[in-house]
Amino acid sequence: MTSRPQEQRRPLTIITGGSEGIGKALAFEFAQGGFDLLLVARNQQNLQTAARAISAQYDVTVLTLVGDLIDPDTSSKITTFLEQQNHYCQFLVNNAGFGLAGDFARHDEAAIRDLVDLNVRALTDLSRQFLPDMLERGAGGILNVASMGGLLPGPYQAAYYASKAYVISLTKALSWELWGTGVRISVLAPGPVKTKFHGRMGARSDLYIQSGAGISATRAARMGYSGFMCGKCLIIPGILSQLGAIALKILPHDLLMPAMAWFLKARIKPKAKNGERFLD
Ligand SMILES: NC(=O)c1ccc[n+]([C@@H]2O[C@H](COP(=O)([O-])OP(=O)(O)OC[C@H]3O[C@@H](n4cnc5c(N)ncnc54)[C@H](OP(=O)(O)O)[C@@H]3O)[C@@H](O)[C@H]2O)c1
Repeated sequence: MTSRPQEQRRPLTIITGGSEGIGKALAFEFAQGGFDLLLVARNQQNLQTAARAISAQYDVTVLTLVGDLIDPDTSSKITTFLEQQNHYCQFLVNNAGFGLAGDFARHDEAAIRDLVDLNVRALTDLSRQFLPDMLERGAGGILNVASMGGLLPGPYQAAYYASKAYVISLTKALSWELWGTGVRISVLAPGPVKTKFHGRMGARSDLYIQSGAGISATRAARMGYSGFMCGKCLIIPGILSQLGAIALKILPHDLLMPAMAWFLKARIKPKAKNGERFLD
């Protein structure tokens, strides 16, 4: 298939991890805004279910691409797919991510590498890949999904918190570089959101989950989408999380670390299978 020249291609919003949780909720928000979508994730069935649900509700094109973003080749596969479909990336939503709960020294080494590859390397590659085109057009933007956990160190979720600190730092620095170019960049940093994420990372027994804290994926996505469209750089959904973020700015992190460790420490003994615990 020959691809058309850039100016004849149609705009599209790419959402990584758009098949479930916050990514799927963000896909609904962008669809409601009238934006055509490309959802990327590993599970084809979940992708198709999400695409069908969005298309049934909104008059937008929803493309899907099965891809594992831990594989460094997937980023360039997305570009090739877009060209074949005669689209270009108007907005990029770097949402796919996962966490690891428990002692860092007991995690599977490959699992930590995968976490850094997905939460940090893939997000960075995709941003670098699509930004030059956006800058040339003087339009478009990137919405990165970090976490409130990126605002301070998180004992017992150490690599996850550190990966999200990178995402917040990168986004804030790029927002400076992109000032006045017409290209926007935001970072969504929610506190706990009720998705399958916590069970997947083995954190179901941790106090912050057992306390029942958390907002819905729809609420997080709605605030993420509206904040992004308004040009807000750091978006923290929910009044409690916003108050928490203010406290994190004022209080020394060294003083908060024992409280964080107590909050994040698992309350029952680990099953110690491949570094994973309490999986669904
Ligand atoms: N839930 C929370 O409390 C919370 C709070 C703050 C920030 N966040 C952040 O929000 C983002 C989304 O979290 P969520 O709660 O919506 O998680 P989720 O429900 O587990 O959904 C994760 C999504 O990412 C996709 N994904 C996972 N690994 C992938 C890979 N290697 N390649 C491509 N796609 C992949 C999943 O699909 P497949 O499995 O089919 O690939 C799924 O669509 C993450 O970056 C997370 O760190 C979550």
